[in-house]
Amino acid sequence: MKVAYVQMEPAFLNPERNYSKAEKLVGEAVEKSAKLVVLPELFDTGYNFESRKEVEEVAGEIPDGPTTEFLVELAREKEVFIVAGTAEKDGKGNLYNSAVIVGPTGWGYIGKYRKVHLFNREKLFFRPGNLGFHVFNIGIAKVGVMICFDWFFPESARTLALKGAEIIAHPSNLVMPYAPRAMPIRALENRVYTVTANRVGEERGLKFIGKSTIASPLADVLAMGSENKEEVAVVEIDLSLARDKRINERNDIFKDRRPQYYVI
Ligand code: ACM
Repeated sequence: MKVAYVQMEPAFLNPERNYSKAEKLVGEAVEKSAKLVVLPELFDTGYNFESRKEVEEVAGEIPDGPTTEFLVELAREKEVFIVAGTAEKDGKGNLYNSAVIVGPTGWGYIGKYRKVHLFNREKLFFRPGNLGFHVFNIGIAKVGVMICFDWFFPESARTLALKGAEIIAHPSNLVMPYAPRAMPIRALENRVYTVTANRVGEERGLKFIGKSTIASPLADVLAMGSENKEEVAVVEIDLSLARDKRINERNDIFKDRRPQYYVI
């Protein structure tokens, strides 16, 4: 199957503009036969908020808000699965840095993930995720979702892989330079594919690094984006590689775990 990332520069605080950008770029990925497309973290709103009020004005409920409705419609129209980061308000005054997964006709809204590990000033606006790490079985693959800084905690990808993820969809707004180097190792140590969809551009002096990355269970970089352009990459992946955790005759990296020695 083919998976894709959409690397884009969200227009800050302008969801309508971002819906059009996403529609165009997801369209490009689908033209190249992508079945699963990953968009960046907070693709609908941008990232570098100044105040809680600013987030509240653009955040929406999931699934009953405009961004989820837009994504459901886009996935239906393009016949594709989409994972995308979005600002969520829960109707009780709480804000989350979330991601939504939606699918083609017959699927619609599938589920959401709320970012567990908040980065830096995100802590001023968002509550830490309270839904845990979840794997969504979309028929053609089992997809785990984590968001940006979650990568820094190997437990995130490990938990998803132990729960059966074959692909980790990783909407991101990376500002530090490390993740494009680290994600192939997350993929290797869990024997999964990873799709990091990062953003580009600058907001209020904060620069995002681009370099969206698709990595294989063998730590190969199958695609890497530029540092500053909006672009799409579509890559063929072989899920049998992610389903088989054996690396030789005697080592199965999951069966060989010794969790009794991992307690502190
Ligand atoms: C990040 O988690 N957006 C750096």
